[in-house]
Amino acid sequence: MIVLGIETSCDETAAALVEETGDPQHPWRIRSTVVASQVAIHREWGGIVPELSARQHGRDICGVVRRAQEEGGGAPYDVIAATQGPGLVGSLLVGLSFAKALAWARSVPFVPVHHLAGHIESLVLEHGELPLPAVVLVVSGGHTSLYRVAAPGQYELLGRTRDDAAGEAFDKVAKLLGLGYPGGPVIDRIARDGDDRAVPFPKTRLTHADRNAPDRPGDRDFSFSGLKTSVLRHVTQRRAGLGLADGEPLPVSETADIAASFQRVVVESLLDRLFEVVRWYDARSVGIAGGVSANSRLRRDAAVRAAARDLPVFVPPLALSTDNAAMIAAAGIRRDRAGFRGSLQENAEAPLPVPLHAT
Ligand code: KG4
Ligand code: ZN
Repeated sequence: MIVLGIETSCDETAAALVEETGDPQHPWRIRSTVVASQVAIHREWGGIVPELSARQHGRDICGVVRRAQEEGGGAPYDVIAATQGPGLVGSLLVGLSFAKALAWARSVPFVPVHHLAGHIESLVLEHGELPLPAVVLVVSGGHTSLYRVAAPGQYELLGRTRDDAAGEAFDKVAKLLGLGYPGGPVIDRIARDGDDRAVPFPKTRLTHADRNAPDRPGDRDFSFSGLKTSVLRHVTQRRAGLGLADGEPLPVSETADIAASFQRVVVESLLDRLFEVVRWYDARSVGIAGGVSANSRLRRDAAVRAAARDLPVFVPPLALSTDNAAMIAAAGIRRDRAGFRGSLQENAEAPLPVPLHAT
């Protein structure tokens, strides 16, 4: 079976062809994957502008899908999978409507996919089936969520951020340091020259139930807005102390120290909670997926912590860590094989209900 995947939830227009291998341990192979990034457009505004994103998806979608088909050898596909949510509704609607129209025109089944299921399945796409139960941290510009995967395609939400996503914190801190957009890769790069203990930013540790969801346990959640505010306060004080004019940046070495200190706190907050949950649930493997999983410190520290517990840790390669359609096609195969049949009535959903399951 070959699946055409389509992803337009945020600022990447992506299409991919993924096929089954017949090997149950390593079930899928990428035939082609094409990503048209809108970063250059949004950089000008310092962040993603939803209206511009939706319009650009509309311009790019035909060409991106055509290229994925050509690069995949023109093979006919059996199923079309597209991201249904969560994401920007106007952007999601472009990919979803395109996919439904194509599925109707070609008389092939349509499978809507949860974006985070895609990020989780990017690990299987690359590494094969994970030893289960696995605990997977999905950490991106829009999400910071912990899932338990007890059986293939069963994703149980354990915890999530109460406010900002980790990637969003990277982007906002980079912006206030004058480092541009997207912030994650720049902070990752300049933090290498900084002292990660230079500024004692606080680590938020939630222990109480979420007032908006009081029936959930609260001790598996994350919070990054307090950290972002303390970086802002620190930078404002330092700028005033140095008498800097508006728009004048802090010295390079001080910026590197702030970036390194901020990054250390984010990575420690993520990994403290991740490995706590791994212990509570007696997980046999650990996964980290989503755009922030590209972070070099997060990868390194996760590998060290996992090795100390004799656990395998799985991280996607860079091309599969940020948004792409191969992961959506993979999650689509999973869902199709679980017997799910989508309908052409499916709508885009900004937040999608959790927990999410393949069936
Ligand atoms: O998964 P993704 O492409 O899109 C969403 O679903 O949100 O993730 C994008 C996020 C951005 O916030 C970006 O700053 C962050 O991933 N990111 C990183 C790195 N590379 C990308 N964050 C930290 N370190 C990186 N190396
Ligand atoms: Zn994503």
